[in-house]
Amino acid sequence: MKPGSILTGLLCLLCVTAAFAADPIAIKFSHVVAADTPKGKAADRFAELAREKTKGRVEVTVYPNSTLFKDKEEMEALQLGSVQMLAPSLAKFGPLGVKEFEVFDLPYLFDDYAQLHKVTQGPVGKALLDKLADKGVLGLAYWDNGFKVMSANKPLREVKDFRGQKMRIQSSKVLDAQMRALGASPQVMAFSEVYQALQTGVVDGTENPPSNLYTQKMHEVQKYVTLSDHGYLGYAVIVNKAFWDGLPPDVRTALEAAMVEATDYANEIARQENEDALAKVKTSGKSELITLTPEQKAAWKKALIKVHRQMEDRIGKGLIQSIYEATGCDCGKL
Ligand code: LMR
Repeated sequence: MKPGSILTGLLCLLCVTAAFAADPIAIKFSHVVAADTPKGKAADRFAELAREKTKGRVEVTVYPNSTLFKDKEEMEALQLGSVQMLAPSLAKFGPLGVKEFEVFDLPYLFDDYAQLHKVTQGPVGKALLDKLADKGVLGLAYWDNGFKVMSANKPLREVKDFRGQKMRIQSSKVLDAQMRALGASPQVMAFSEVYQALQTGVVDGTENPPSNLYTQKMHEVQKYVTLSDHGYLGYAVIVNKAFWDGLPPDVRTALEAAMVEATDYANEIARQENEDALAKVKTSGKSELITLTPEQKAAWKKALIKVHRQMEDRIGKGLIQSIYEATGCDCGKL
């Protein structure tokens, strides 16, 4: 063998060794809910799939339960690049300057997951994710959670029952308008602070899908849970755009494939996770579950549907209309 080819061979060996020895690309994925929730499980699944599909070149570390950042901090951290991936609820994009996501908070906008998916898996959802690019953020997917219940220490059956109740909300002006339309007093608060605020009486009640209520033990400090399904809560999975664009193309492609699978998984488990959580709240015996009569439901809807029109200036009448068209909702005529 010629000395030249021995040298080339040695160099190749060195490259391979260096490639194996190189540290994996680190992705920090921060979120605020428990690991045992639709979002928590999907984040963990994404981490597994990312490792598999990149053959260990990417290591995703998931930080659940606000252990790395709380609600407001996490958005700033993503833009600064101190965390690479988040899945904030769609109600939390106002502070980033993309208030259109608050459209998902409109009460009674979706009757069920099938209607919601017409938006999140269609052109309207895609156009919304595209709006994030200006903020240095890339929207990768929508992950479901579910339909919300209302909880408090008094039974919330009639609209008048909300009068004077201090209700914790996420930082969405639509949710603010929703609580005001019911006669309640909304208080924006980070998710990580809700349990204590309920326990100490800083707020009287709140809303969330059952999976969040149960895993944060909110039902232990709320006497009543009304099965109202008055609105939806779900997520956009987002990454720091400069980080994502800077990934080696083959790694990015593998991560995109991991995200597609993790998204299917998230959206498959969400409904069951919420049903299971509700069943656990029931068997715990700590809160009483309230089912509304058709008349009570109709009264809630009548009080709340006007929020759609009130929010047109903030969210955009055209966007609201395009969702009505996608879902076939007759909300505009109500
Ligand atoms: C909340 O703050 O109530 C929710 O957004 C938490 C979450 O991420 O599901």
